[in-house]
Amino acid sequence: MTLRRRLVLSIVALVVAVSAVIGGASLIALFSIQTSAIDKQITSATHRAQRYLQQNQSGQPSIDLSRPSGQAAGTLTAYFVDGQVVIANVLDDYGRPSGIPQASAEALGSVRVDADPETIDLGSDVGRYRLAAVNVGPAVLVVGLPMAPVYDSVWKLFAGVLSVLAAALVAGSVVAAFVVRQSLRPLERVAETASTVARMPLDRSDALDGVRVPDTDPRTEVGRVGSAFNRMLGHIAGAMQARERSEQKVRQFVADASHELRTPLASVRGYAELTRRMGGDLPKDVVYAMSRIESESIRMTSMVEDLLLLARLDEGREIQFAEVDLTGLVLDAVNDAHAASPDHVIEIDVPSSPVVVLGDAARLHQVIVNLVTNARTHTPEGTRITVGIAPADGGVDLTVRDTGQGIDPEFLPKLFERFARADSSRSRTVGSTGLGLAIVDAVVQAHGGSVEVASVPGDTVFTVHLPMDPAAAAAAASASDVSADWSGTPAAVDATH
Ligand SMILES: Nc1ncnc2c1ncn2[C@@H]1O[C@H](COP(=O)(O)OP(=O)(O)OP(=O)(O)O)[C@@H](O)[C@H]1O
Ligand SMILES: [Mg+2]
Repeated sequence: MTLRRRLVLSIVALVVAVSAVIGGASLIALFSIQTSAIDKQITSATHRAQRYLQQNQSGQPSIDLSRPSGQAAGTLTAYFVDGQVVIANVLDDYGRPSGIPQASAEALGSVRVDADPETIDLGSDVGRYRLAAVNVGPAVLVVGLPMAPVYDSVWKLFAGVLSVLAAALVAGSVVAAFVVRQSLRPLERVAETASTVARMPLDRSDALDGVRVPDTDPRTEVGRVGSAFNRMLGHIAGAMQARERSEQKVRQFVADASHELRTPLASVRGYAELTRRMGGDLPKDVVYAMSRIESESIRMTSMVEDLLLLARLDEGREIQFAEVDLTGLVLDAVNDAHAASPDHVIEIDVPSSPVVVLGDAARLHQVIVNLVTNARTHTPEGTRITVGIAPADGGVDLTVRDTGQGIDPEFLPKLFERFARADSSRSRTVGSTGLGLAIVDAVVQAHGGSVEVASVPGDTVFTVHLPMDPAAAAAAASASDVSADWSGTPAAVDATH
């Protein structure tokens, strides 16, 4: 149940309960006021009847006892001698006495003498009466007045209370719904802002700019929630800015470090190569050591190049858009792979006419080479590798498929992470670093495309989707992709202008 509904129901229930209590108390009060008024009237009527009896007492009880002067219509008068009813009648509206049924008259005998008046039901013909009895000499005089007018007015008040309750129910619901809605509106605005923030991709530090709750009045509870919420958003925005700054610093550091490492590495490699070429009478161990230095420096150079490329892609630089013959790139990569791995069966499956896309030729070449190299190096000899291009959904799909042992399903989610390798011990020996697929992913995303992998033993497929209009796709991706850490790729977007 919503808070609003609960509040409205509580208010209405309260209004109805208070009205019911007031109504009930009024009914009880009215009944007792009227009853005590009747009791007073009975006392006076008894006095009048007593006086009359005393004046007329002559041993002739047949005198018209019910007509003492001043008795009101409906007054019941009865006279008992030795417990026997002598006279019992009621005055009608014209002041004429009329008898009452025998059973009713006998019921009068139960009225307690010289006590407070009591209410007795005298049967359906006569109704309920308030009655008092007094001793008059040896006889007993019973005088009473009908309770019907009391019940009448109580019933009328009851009907009135019911209508007030119904009105309170309707009016209370309407007013409570209005008041609760008005009061909760600021809270709804807080909730709206919170769900807007929840839906937002918080990948940029300025994402929360202008997203604030309008109600911040410190005198109201909701206002205090609103201003606390705004402060929290401010903290989050500040933390995001700090994170972005520190990420920027790290990227810059990696880019600078990789850049700076290139020169000394080139020297190491150059000297090692020079020493090897000079030959001469160097001991075997030294020759071996120099060849290791050379090969490791080559490996380190390529690692540094990869890191530099990733850092630049992160910064949104490095992509130069131009028309690229994707078919040509695939043919080159496959030919190179043939030369490098003669024991693998490498095939191509491309349309007969060249497929041209808009992109960065060098980087797309790297994507194809990385995927084909993986298919070569992480599969056993004899594996069949197929590189294909096919038109797909506003762009082209480049697929690299192999019939190798497949990739461990547990490793798949981490496949495109930096330095991720399924079998680290083996990978290290074949000289892999785990940056190849991270570069594929970063380059493809900078082109506004996507890369997917599906792998079961005997069939592993990497599918790279490249859009025809990379600038628009990259812009759309940077606006919607929360996880992209190279969002806002200005070089990629600008290059097409
Ligand atoms: N076609 C494939 N078949 C089986 N495993 C694969 C395949 N492609 C990638 N892998 C696994 O994914 C891991 C990550 O590949 P990635 O290309 O990122 O790094 P790498 O090949 O190990 O190193 P490098 O940086 O030299 O490319 C690999 O180490 C390998 O375990
Ligand atoms: Mg690789």
